Amino acid sequence: MRGIMEPAQQKHIVLGITGGIAAYKAAELARLLMKQGVGVQVAMTEAACHFITPATMQALTGRPVLINQWDAAENGMAHIAMGRAADAIVIAPATADFIAKLALGLADDLLSTMCLARDCQLLVAPAMNRQMWGNAATQRNVAQLARDGVDILGPVSGVQACGEEGMGRMLETEELAREVVVFLQSRSSVGRASARQGDVGLKPDLQNLSGVKMIITAGPTYEAIDAVRGITNRSSGKMGYAVAQAAQELGAEVTLISGPTALHKPHGVQAVDVISAAQMFDAVQQRVPAADIFIGVAAVADYRVAQASAQKIKKSDGNLILELLPNPDILAYVASLPQPPFCVGFAAESENLREYATAKRKAKNIPLLAANLAQQAIGADENELILFDDAGEHVLPRADKLTLARALLQHVAKLYKDRL
Ligand code: PMT
Repeated sequence: MRGIMEPAQQKHIVLGITGGIAAYKAAELARLLMKQGVGVQVAMTEAACHFITPATMQALTGRPVLINQWDAAENGMAHIAMGRAADAIVIAPATADFIAKLALGLADDLLSTMCLARDCQLLVAPAMNRQMWGNAATQRNVAQLARDGVDILGPVSGVQACGEEGMGRMLETEELAREVVVFLQSRSSVGRASARQGDVGLKPDLQNLSGVKMIITAGPTYEAIDAVRGITNRSSGKMGYAVAQAAQELGAEVTLISGPTALHKPHGVQAVDVISAAQMFDAVQQRVPAADIFIGVAAVADYRVAQASAQKIKKSDGNLILELLPNPDILAYVASLPQPPFCVGFAAESENLREYATAKRKAKNIPLLAANLAQQAIGADENELILFDDAGEHVLPRADKLTLARALLQHVAKLYKDRL
């Protein structure tokens, strides 16, 4: 299981340090990895040397630090060979500049040359100011790396060195060390040349859900006030439909229960159209006994009007008071069945994303929850998800919703199969 740190004996990584303030954390990362039995060879960019000295890293690892490909002491080919002999190259911290370089395949210093010439997995832990992280160019580059099969570890949101708060902090050192060790362990079990199955990232590959029956809810619900008015929300259905398509691509038998949207149904899914939360609940109840996996992406209205009027309510000068009743919680109902399918929830929060999402996963008693910032996610073409499961959290960096849905489904499939 991810999250349990067992020794990763006889494994060897190149720890690449690039020039950001989080470089000082690389010392602790090297120490934690070595404690787990991992051999660490450090390679630094020139810029990284302004933030942490090679002498520190050399003293910690007991090996000379590689910096310059023109270094007379050893020839550059030997340096490249070191990258090739490693079980992984881990770049921590990875600056926006270095990520851009990797995305373009540039090789203008020793570390980037090692990355380009490598014969092993590349793990990248971004660390930068929130605006650099949010910049479209960085997001494009990160998405490109993910498509190239690179593992993106983090970043997370929090207070930054510059005093600002937001997304871009490097994953905490312990968490990073855990991710690296888990990666190295998974390599032991599946063999060096084969790709890892089910890792979170944006890799479009691997899992097969052939024959697995899946129910996915999507879109908003509409709670009538009268014949022409109602309560709804801005969910477009894009995320849920993308999840349905991604599941269908993996061979799952998908039933998509959708509130009102303007979208075409993905090819091959069984579509059930509903309007209100009560109808969605009915549709789910009828089909859930046969389901293996349930994914609630719908933004279900939490309340409905106690007595909707069959006719249009006439305007008057006085206040109009509506009594609202709570709607059934569909996901909580499914998760509480005696033999529930594997349940995945979504959480759209406008603040305190981690705290609320963690509480929601617990309250609904579900193994996996995908959290997103409501104001960025709803209606948008792109999104960013943080997955919460028993092993902790996994960031799926900003990408179009189908790319994210594919990555999410890889993770869902892996957890689902682990439970069988
Ligand atoms: O449709 P898009 O425009 O693409 O936007 C996508 C999205 C923002 C709607 C989606 O990514 C998302 O976050 N969906 C869940 C939104 C939501 O209602 O979250 P919630 O925190 O209120 O609900 C938590 C979970 O319980 C969800 O899985 C929800 O489907 C489920 N739920 C909630 C209430 C209820 N009565 N029944 C439920 O099943």
